[in-house]
Amino acid sequence: MFFIVVLLTLAYFSIYYYCKQRFSYWRRKGIPDLEPSIPLGNLSAPWKKIPPSIQYANFYKEFKERGQKHGGVYLFTNPMYIPVDPVLVRNILVKDFHNFSMRGISFNAEMQKCTDNLFFLDGPRWKVLRQKVTPTFTSGKMKMMFTTMLNCAKPLVQEMKLMSANREAIDIKETLAKFTTDVIGSCAFGIDCNSFETPNSDLRKYGKMVFQETVLKSLKMLIAFNYRGLAKKLGITMFEKEVDEFFAKLATDAYNYRMSNHIKRNDFMQILIELKETENALTMNELIAQVFAFFVAGFDTSAATLTFCLFELASNLDIQKKLREEISNVLNEYDGEITYESLQDMKYLDQVISETLRKYPVASMIIRTCSEDYQIPFSNSTLEKGTLVLISALGLQRDPEYFPDPEKFDPDRFSNENESKIRPGTYLPFGDGPRICIGIRFGLMQVKICLISLLKGFEFSVNSKTKLPLEFDFGFVTNVKGGIWLNCQKIS
Ligand code: HEM
Repeated sequence: MFFIVVLLTLAYFSIYYYCKQRFSYWRRKGIPDLEPSIPLGNLSAPWKKIPPSIQYANFYKEFKERGQKHGGVYLFTNPMYIPVDPVLVRNILVKDFHNFSMRGISFNAEMQKCTDNLFFLDGPRWKVLRQKVTPTFTSGKMKMMFTTMLNCAKPLVQEMKLMSANREAIDIKETLAKFTTDVIGSCAFGIDCNSFETPNSDLRKYGKMVFQETVLKSLKMLIAFNYRGLAKKLGITMFEKEVDEFFAKLATDAYNYRMSNHIKRNDFMQILIELKETENALTMNELIAQVFAFFVAGFDTSAATLTFCLFELASNLDIQKKLREEISNVLNEYDGEITYESLQDMKYLDQVISETLRKYPVASMIIRTCSEDYQIPFSNSTLEKGTLVLISALGLQRDPEYFPDPEKFDPDRFSNENESKIRPGTYLPFGDGPRICIGIRFGLMQVKICLISLLKGFEFSVNSKTKLPLEFDFGFVTNVKGGIWLNCQKIS
């Protein structure tokens, strides 16, 4: 018994002194920090269920309120650097990109087929792949996919007609995610998912699974990011095994079907097949992984953006009316048809979407890893190779210094007159620099098609089932506790 007590006491003091030593890292570097606690560092306890997006925005806020240009925190005992000043942010993302080209979040990639993609790769493999895949997203290629996307809006409009006739409260994220699943399912895998007719399709099921957050899943991710060796021993992977296998099979089947039946379509899969077959620029595994990345990065981010946009329009009926008037006026010039060109003429629509992404940056954390020791501007401190860097888009975009009255939904912040006043490094809904989101054009096109299709026929208001004020939920993509519920009324 005595022996056990001595052992436990020794273990306690060893852990205590180890943590104390680790927690002096930022002070030794001359970089301000926030007081950590053992063993979580600056992370809040998992049972408090504070979403990471909010935790990191709070770190930003604390340093900012103390007048600091940057700071350091600890994830468990691992240091993480938080740039606060927009000049530092921009240097990391753009000017000094060569020091920060790594996202550095991939782990145990060799255990999965789908993780070898643009989002997770780093170094020369990322660079080569980004160059090869970039032509997939030109405006010419987007124009090719326009009709496919527009067709996916038809069942959505039908569903809205039904729900408005039945006066049902609409779980708007769920409804919009069916639309974005159909779009990306069609454009990436070339399959007609019909999510409205078959809401429990495998694509919808596995798509949901990718983003389903649980405390256990978050804990696994924290272990994986902080203790790679342990993650390897425990066999922790980025996605569940069945998710990886499902998407790999889907992409392989789609590829084989097209090859053996000589089928060509205007979509991502076709462009990737051409890269593989004619230019020998992609391997089969790379093709599978890219299709998966487009699916994962595309459907939930766009559905969340649409959800927040409709919520704000339902809460600000004057803005909804003004936008509907613009849509109606522009469509009149195109014989009432939604065309690719008509989208370019809707300036106020652009403003509304930009303001939605300002208030709700759905991918609110921009992550980089320092790949070489880096002399931090305005300081005598050096950032060590391998340090994780986190930029809080949510913190910056709700900072009253850059966006006065930040809780107010005001699309005029993005008018021609005001847009040029936005400070570089403060507005980052798609990230910035060479690793900026590759799918911006595609994402914005589907968001616009959806909004136009809905607003021209329906009026939206907030249903009392929505818990106000909105409270963010756990998850990589920003979500809302209890969901957003809207009423929809058919007009004309
Ligand atoms: C409104 C919709 C979207 C939002 C808000 C969004 C946001 C983002 C953000 C914040 C990043 C990280 C950028 C950085 O680290 O600097 C990113 C990366 C990425 N996004 Fe998107 N995204 C959207 C739609 C899409 C779509 C539709 C696709 C594909 C079809 C896509 C594919 C990607 C890929 C592949 C990356 C990794 C790029 C790289 O590291 O080279 N995204 N996105």
